[in-house]
Amino acid sequence: MDHRARLLDEYFGLLDGEMTIGEHKISDLAATYGTPLYIYDASILRHRLAILRDAVPDRVDIYFSIKANPNPAVASIFVTEGAGVEIASGAEFLRARDAGCPSSRILFAGPGKTAAELAMVIEHGIGEIHVESDDEITRLIEIGRPVHVAVRVNPLAEASGGAMRMGGQASPFGIDEERVEEVIQRVQEAPNLTFSGLHMFAGTQILKADVLVGQWRHALELAIRISESVGLPIAQLDLGGGLGVPYFSNEKPLDLDVVTELSSALFAELGDHPAIADTQIVLEPGRFLAGPGGIYVGRATTVKKSRDKTFVVTDAGMHHHLAASGNLGQVIKRDYPVINVSRAGESHDMAATVVGPLCTPLDTLARKGTMPAQTATGDLIAILQSGAYGLSASPVGFLSQPMPAEVLIDGASHKQIRKPGTYEQPLTGLPR
Ligand SMILES: Cc1ncc(COP(=O)(O)O)c(C=O)c1O
Repeated sequence: MDHRARLLDEYFGLLDGEMTIGEHKISDLAATYGTPLYIYDASILRHRLAILRDAVPDRVDIYFSIKANPNPAVASIFVTEGAGVEIASGAEFLRARDAGCPSSRILFAGPGKTAAELAMVIEHGIGEIHVESDDEITRLIEIGRPVHVAVRVNPLAEASGGAMRMGGQASPFGIDEERVEEVIQRVQEAPNLTFSGLHMFAGTQILKADVLVGQWRHALELAIRISESVGLPIAQLDLGGGLGVPYFSNEKPLDLDVVTELSSALFAELGDHPAIADTQIVLEPGRFLAGPGGIYVGRATTVKKSRDKTFVVTDAGMHHHLAASGNLGQVIKRDYPVINVSRAGESHDMAATVVGPLCTPLDTLARKGTMPAQTATGDLIAILQSGAYGLSASPVGFLSQPMPAEVLIDGASHKQIRKPGTYEQPLTGLPR
C-alpha cells in the first residue's frame, strides 16, 4: 500500500467513489463553505493525544504547541482533554486563552519575547516563562511581578536527529548548557523570580523512536547534573516537542510501541533518581498532535497539458500551505500526499503536476504527483497531513488571495472556525 492509500485507510473513508472525512463527504463541506478550505476532524485530533498519552509514562504532562495550529477551536480540542498549551508570542497567549486554557497551564518559550508580551502574560498569571537570554531575565526583573521561570537549555552535545537541527552549536534558542548554572543563580537572586525547571528542545520532525528517547535521556541526565550542582530541585522538566509525522512516501510513522519500550526503560533507570523523582515531566508537541487531523482542500480550476506534462491548476496554493509547496525549510522538495477527492476510489496512475494559482513556479503542490486519468476541472483535490504548520506558516498576504475558511467537524456536526476572506478584505481575522 502506498503512503497516500495508507493515510486514506487510517484516517478517512470512501463513499460513492469520493473521499470522506469523519461522517462527511468532503464535497458537501466544500459546497457549504467554498474552496479553498482547511478541514479538521476533532476525533483524529483527540485520537492523536490519546495515543501519545498511552505511549509515554504516566508522569508526562502534555502541552499542545499552539504554533502548529493557532486556531482556538483546534487547540480547544486538546485543552478540553486536559492538555496545557505552549506559546511563542503574546497573540498565541490570547489564542490559548480563547481555547479555554487556564493561564496557569500556559508555558511561554521563544527567543524574542518583548517586554510588552511578558508584561501582558504575567499580568494574566501565566504558568511559566522559559527564559532564553540574559536580556530576557533583565526584562522580567524590571517588570518586577512574581513569575515562575524555567531555563531553556541549548544542549552542548548535538542531541539532534530531526530535520531541523538545534543543539551542539551556537543558537539564538536557549541558554548554552555551559552557562546554565550561572543563569539559574541569577534567577534565584532576583526577588520576583522563582526558578522552576529546565526546558530542552533539540529538533523537529523526529521519526525515529531511539533518536527521540535519546534526546529525552540527555535531558534527564542534564536535569540530574544541574540539580545536583545548584542544589535545587527541578520542579518541571520540559522535554520539548519534535515528534514527527510522515509526509513523504519514504517516511515511516514514529513507532509508538518503541517509544513506550525505550521511555519506560529510561524512566525505570533514571526517573527515581532523587534529583528528579518529584519532577513534573512535560512534552510539548505540535505537529504530532495536529498534523494528521487536518486536510487542505482546493478545486481544480484548469487541467491542461504543456508539452509532455499534465498540470492540474487549483485554487489552493502555497499562500495557504507553504510547507506543502516544499518552501518551508525543506532542502529536498518532496510531495505531500495529494489526492483527487472527487475520484478517490479511482487509481491515481496519471503523472500530474499539481499547482496553485500564484504567478510563480514555487507554487507547486505536487511535483511528481499522480492523479486519476479522468481528472477534470471542478474536481476537489486534498493535501493530507495538513493540520500543523499549514495556514499559520504561510505567506497569506501574497497576491492578495483571500484567506481560506477553516472548518471543524466533530461526529455529525460541522462548523466554520474561520471566516474566509473576501476580495474586499482578503485577510480577515479569527472570529473572537
Ligand atoms: C520551543 C518549541 N516547542 C515545541 C515546538 C513544536 O515542535 P513540533 O511541532 O515539532 O512538535 C517548537 C517548534 O518549533 C518549539 O520551537
